[in-house]
Amino acid sequence: FLLNLSILDLGTISITVPKVMANSLSDNRSIFYAGCAAQVFLFFFLLGAEYALLTVMAYDHYVAICQPLHYGTLLGSRACVHMAAAAWGTGFLYAVLHMANTFSIPLCHGNTVEQFFCEIPQILKLSCSDAYLREVGLLILSCFLGFGCFVFIVLSYVQIFRAVLRIPSEQGRHKAFSTCLPHLAVVSLLVSTGIFSYLKPPSISSPSLDLVVAVLYSVVPPVFKTQVDKDLWNQV
Ligand SMILES: *[C@@H]1O[C@H](CO)[C@@H](O)[C@H](O)[C@H]1NC(C)=O
Repeated sequence: FLLNLSILDLGTISITVPKVMANSLSDNRSIFYAGCAAQVFLFFFLLGAEYALLTVMAYDHYVAICQPLHYGTLLGSRACVHMAAAAWGTGFLYAVLHMANTFSIPLCHGNTVEQFFCEIPQILKLSCSDAYLREVGLLILSCFLGFGCFVFIVLSYVQIFRAVLRIPSEQGRHKAFSTCLPHLAVVSLLVSTGIFSYLKPPSISSPSLDLVVAVLYSVVPPVFKTQVDKDLWNQV
Protein backbone atom coordinates (compact mmCIF):
# COMPACT_ATOMS: atom_id res chain seq x y z
CA PHE A 1 0.00 0.00 0.00
CA LEU A 2 2.80 2.40 0.89
CA LEU A 3 4.54 1.79 -2.42
CA ASN A 4 1.23 2.43 -4.20
CA LEU A 5 0.76 5.67 -2.27
CA SER A 6 4.29 6.90 -2.95
CA ILE A 7 3.88 6.26 -6.67
CA LEU A 8 0.57 8.14 -6.68
CA ASP A 9 2.05 11.07 -4.76
CA LEU A 10 5.06 11.36 -7.06
CA GLY A 11 2.73 11.14 -10.06
CA THR A 12 0.45 13.88 -8.74
CA ILE A 13 3.38 16.23 -8.25
CA SER A 14 4.76 15.52 -11.72
CA ILE A 15 1.52 16.50 -13.43
CA THR A 16 1.45 20.13 -12.37
CA VAL A 17 4.86 21.18 -11.04
CA PRO A 18 7.14 20.58 -14.09
CA LYS A 19 4.75 22.49 -16.36
CA VAL A 20 4.68 25.38 -13.89
CA MET A 21 8.48 25.42 -13.84
CA ALA A 22 8.63 25.37 -17.63
CA ASN A 23 6.13 28.23 -17.73
CA SER A 24 8.13 30.35 -15.33
CA LEU A 25 11.37 29.75 -17.24
CA SER A 26 9.98 30.77 -20.60
CA ASP A 27 7.56 33.38 -21.82
CA ASN A 28 5.40 30.75 -23.41
CA ARG A 29 2.55 29.82 -21.09
CA SER A 30 0.42 27.93 -23.57
CA ILE A 31 -0.67 24.31 -23.33
CA PHE A 32 -2.02 22.06 -26.07
CA TYR A 33 -5.71 21.21 -25.88
CA ALA A 34 -4.76 17.53 -25.67
CA GLY A 35 -2.20 18.34 -22.98
CA CYS A 36 -4.88 20.11 -21.00
CA ALA A 37 -7.19 17.08 -21.31
CA ALA A 38 -4.32 14.81 -20.27
CA GLN A 39 -3.67 16.98 -17.21
CA VAL A 40 -7.31 16.75 -16.15
CA PHE A 41 -7.36 13.00 -16.76
CA LEU A 42 -4.11 12.18 -14.95
CA PHE A 43 -4.81 14.53 -12.08
CA PHE A 44 -8.22 13.01 -11.37
CA PHE A 45 -6.94 9.49 -11.99
CA LEU A 46 -4.06 9.77 -9.52
CA LEU A 47 -5.92 11.81 -6.93
CA GLY A 48 -9.01 9.57 -7.16
CA ALA A 49 -6.89 6.42 -6.80
CA GLU A 50 -4.96 7.99 -3.95
CA TYR A 51 -8.07 8.96 -2.08
CA ALA A 52 -9.65 5.52 -2.60
CA LEU A 53 -6.42 3.95 -1.37
CA LEU A 54 -6.37 6.17 1.72
CA THR A 55 -9.92 5.03 2.51
CA VAL A 56 -8.92 1.38 2.07
CA MET A 57 -5.85 1.94 4.24
CA ALA A 58 -7.94 3.49 7.01
CA TYR A 59 -10.01 0.30 7.02
CA ASP A 60 -6.82 -1.80 6.96
CA HIS A 61 -5.40 0.11 9.96
CA TYR A 62 -8.71 -0.16 11.79
CA VAL A 63 -8.86 -3.94 11.38
CA ALA A 64 -5.16 -4.37 12.23
CA ILE A 65 -5.43 -2.39 15.45
CA CYS A 66 -9.00 -2.88 16.63
CA GLN A 67 -9.79 -6.38 15.33
CA PRO A 68 -6.34 -7.99 15.13
CA LEU A 69 -7.67 -11.54 15.47
CA HIS A 70 -9.84 -11.11 12.37
CA TYR A 71 -7.09 -9.52 10.29
CA GLY A 72 -6.04 -12.74 8.56
CA THR A 73 -9.59 -13.62 7.48
CA LEU A 74 -10.75 -10.09 6.55
CA LEU A 75 -7.59 -8.82 4.88
CA GLY A 76 -5.42 -11.59 3.52
CA SER A 77 -2.82 -10.67 0.92
CA ARG A 78 -5.30 -11.53 -1.88
CA ALA A 79 -7.86 -9.12 -0.40
CA CYS A 80 -5.20 -6.40 -0.22
CA VAL A 81 -4.30 -6.85 -3.89
CA HIS A 82 -8.00 -6.73 -4.82
CA MET A 83 -8.55 -3.58 -2.80
CA ALA A 84 -5.50 -1.87 -4.29
CA ALA A 85 -6.71 -2.83 -7.78
CA ALA A 86 -10.18 -1.52 -6.94
CA ALA A 87 -8.66 1.80 -5.83
CA TRP A 88 -6.75 2.22 -9.12
CA GLY A 89 -9.89 1.20 -11.05
CA THR A 90 -12.01 3.73 -9.16
CA GLY A 91 -9.52 6.49 -9.97
CA PHE A 92 -9.51 5.51 -13.64
CA LEU A 93 -13.31 5.45 -13.94
CA TYR A 94 -13.59 8.72 -12.10
CA ALA A 95 -11.02 10.39 -14.36
CA VAL A 96 -12.69 9.12 -17.55
CA LEU A 97 -16.06 10.50 -16.41
CA HIS A 98 -14.64 13.94 -15.62
CA MET A 99 -12.49 14.22 -18.72
CA ALA A 100 -15.21 13.02 -21.11
CA ASN A 101 -17.76 15.36 -19.53
CA THR A 102 -15.52 18.42 -19.43
CA PHE A 103 -13.97 18.14 -22.86
CA SER A 104 -17.26 17.45 -24.68
CA ILE A 105 -18.51 20.91 -23.72
CA PRO A 106 -18.14 23.54 -26.43
CA LEU A 107 -15.90 26.40 -25.25
CA CYS A 108 -16.46 29.88 -26.60
CA HIS A 109 -15.27 32.40 -24.03
CA GLY A 110 -11.68 32.46 -25.22
CA ASN A 111 -8.98 29.94 -24.46
CA THR A 112 -7.26 31.36 -21.38
CA VAL A 113 -7.25 29.19 -18.26
CA GLU A 114 -6.66 31.42 -15.25
CA GLN A 115 -4.80 28.85 -13.22
CA PHE A 116 -1.37 27.21 -13.20
CA PHE A 117 -2.84 23.92 -14.44
CA CYS A 118 -6.00 22.86 -16.23
CA GLU A 119 -8.52 22.96 -13.43
CA ILE A 120 -12.09 21.97 -14.27
CA PRO A 121 -13.88 25.01 -12.72
CA GLN A 122 -11.65 27.32 -14.77
CA ILE A 123 -12.39 25.38 -17.96
CA LEU A 124 -16.13 25.44 -17.23
CA LYS A 125 -15.94 29.23 -17.05
CA LEU A 126 -15.05 29.21 -20.75
CA SER A 127 -18.11 27.20 -21.76
CA CYS A 128 -21.16 28.77 -23.27
CA SER A 129 -23.84 26.08 -23.33
CA ASP A 130 -25.88 24.45 -20.59
CA ALA A 131 -23.85 21.29 -21.05
CA TYR A 132 -21.57 22.44 -18.27
CA LEU A 133 -24.33 21.73 -15.74
CA ARG A 134 -23.78 17.99 -16.24
CA GLU A 135 -20.16 18.35 -15.13
CA VAL A 136 -21.20 20.57 -12.23
CA GLY A 137 -23.61 17.83 -11.12
CA LEU A 138 -20.81 15.29 -11.35
CA LEU A 139 -18.51 17.53 -9.30
CA ILE A 140 -21.16 17.96 -6.59
CA LEU A 141 -21.69 14.19 -6.50
CA SER A 142 -17.91 13.65 -6.21
CA CYS A 143 -17.70 16.11 -3.34
CA PHE A 144 -20.41 14.23 -1.47
CA LEU A 145 -18.69 10.89 -2.15
CA GLY A 146 -15.36 12.37 -1.08
CA PHE A 147 -16.91 13.70 2.08
CA GLY A 148 -18.46 10.27 2.79
CA CYS A 149 -15.01 8.67 2.50
CA PHE A 150 -13.60 11.37 4.75
CA VAL A 151 -16.18 10.62 7.44
CA PHE A 152 -15.30 6.92 7.12
CA ILE A 153 -11.56 7.70 7.48
CA VAL A 154 -12.12 9.93 10.51
CA LEU A 155 -14.37 7.35 12.21
CA SER A 156 -11.74 4.63 11.64
CA TYR A 157 -9.05 6.86 13.13
CA VAL A 158 -11.25 7.72 16.13
CA GLN A 159 -11.57 3.99 16.86
CA ILE A 160 -7.83 3.57 16.35
CA PHE A 161 -7.01 6.46 18.71
CA ARG A 162 -9.31 5.02 21.36
CA ALA A 163 -7.46 1.72 21.12
CA VAL A 164 -4.08 3.47 21.13
CA LEU A 165 -4.92 5.47 24.28
CA ARG A 166 -5.27 2.14 26.08
CA ILE A 167 -1.67 1.19 25.22
CA PRO A 168 0.17 1.28 28.53
CA SER A 169 3.60 2.28 27.17
CA GLU A 170 4.21 5.98 26.57
CA GLN A 171 6.57 5.19 23.69
CA GLY A 172 4.02 2.99 21.88
CA ARG A 173 1.38 5.70 22.13
CA HIS A 174 3.80 8.31 20.86
CA LYS A 175 4.72 6.14 17.88
CA ALA A 176 1.09 5.48 16.96
CA PHE A 177 0.16 9.16 17.18
CA SER A 178 3.19 10.36 15.27
CA THR A 179 2.30 8.09 12.34
CA CYS A 180 -1.46 8.68 12.34
CA LEU A 181 -1.78 12.41 13.02
CA PRO A 182 0.30 13.72 10.07
CA HIS A 183 -1.67 11.41 7.77
CA LEU A 184 -4.96 12.69 9.08
CA ALA A 185 -3.78 16.31 8.81
CA VAL A 186 -2.80 15.88 5.15
CA VAL A 187 -6.08 14.14 4.30
CA SER A 188 -8.07 16.90 6.02
CA LEU A 189 -6.18 19.58 4.09
CA LEU A 190 -6.78 17.77 0.79
CA VAL A 191 -10.50 17.28 1.43
CA SER A 192 -11.27 20.72 2.83
CA THR A 193 -9.42 22.71 0.14
CA GLY A 194 -10.60 20.36 -2.65
CA ILE A 195 -14.25 20.65 -1.65
CA PHE A 196 -13.89 24.40 -1.15
CA SER A 197 -12.42 25.00 -4.58
CA TYR A 198 -14.96 22.81 -6.42
CA LEU A 199 -18.12 23.80 -4.52
CA LYS A 200 -17.55 27.45 -3.72
CA PRO A 201 -20.00 29.88 -5.31
CA PRO A 202 -18.47 31.90 -8.17
CA SER A 203 -19.19 35.11 -6.22
CA ILE A 204 -16.32 34.51 -3.78
CA SER A 205 -13.89 33.62 -6.53
CA SER A 206 -10.86 35.84 -7.08
CA PRO A 207 -7.72 34.95 -9.04
CA SER A 208 -5.42 35.06 -6.00
CA LEU A 209 -7.77 33.07 -3.74
CA ASP A 210 -8.25 30.47 -6.50
CA LEU A 211 -4.48 30.20 -6.87
CA VAL A 212 -3.81 29.73 -3.14
CA VAL A 213 -6.56 27.12 -2.77
CA ALA A 214 -5.37 25.24 -5.87
CA VAL A 215 -1.82 25.06 -4.50
CA LEU A 216 -3.21 23.86 -1.17
CA TYR A 217 -5.02 20.90 -2.68
CA SER A 218 -2.87 20.00 -5.69
CA VAL A 219 0.75 20.58 -4.60
CA VAL A 220 1.03 20.77 -0.81
CA PRO A 221 -0.64 17.43 0.12
CA PRO A 222 1.45 15.21 -2.21
CA VAL A 223 4.68 16.99 -1.27
CA PHE A 224 4.03 16.61 2.45
CA LYS A 225 2.69 13.12 2.07
CA THR A 226 5.88 11.94 0.38
CA GLN A 227 7.63 12.93 3.61
CA VAL A 228 5.00 11.25 5.82
CA ASP A 229 5.18 8.10 3.68
CA LYS A 230 8.96 8.10 3.99
CA ASP A 231 8.70 8.25 7.80
CA LEU A 232 6.22 5.36 7.69
CA TRP A 233 8.60 3.35 5.51
CA ASN A 234 11.39 3.91 8.02
CA GLN A 235 9.20 2.67 10.84
CA VAL A 236 8.20 -0.43 8.87
C1 LIG B 1 -0.02 -1.96 -4.71
O1 LIG B 1 -0.49 -2.66 -3.58
C2 LIG B 1 -0.78 -4.03 -3.81
C3 LIG B 1 -1.43 -4.59 -2.56
O2 LIG B 1 -0.62 -4.55 -1.45
C4 LIG B 1 0.50 -4.74 -4.22
O3 LIG B 1 0.22 -6.11 -4.45
C5 LIG B 1 1.03 -4.11 -5.48
O4 LIG B 1 2.27 -4.69 -5.84
C6 LIG B 1 1.23 -2.62 -5.28
N1 LIG B 1 1.56 -2.03 -6.57
C7 LIG B 1 2.52 -1.14 -6.71
C8 LIG B 1 2.75 -0.64 -8.10
O5 LIG B 1 3.15 -0.70 -5.78
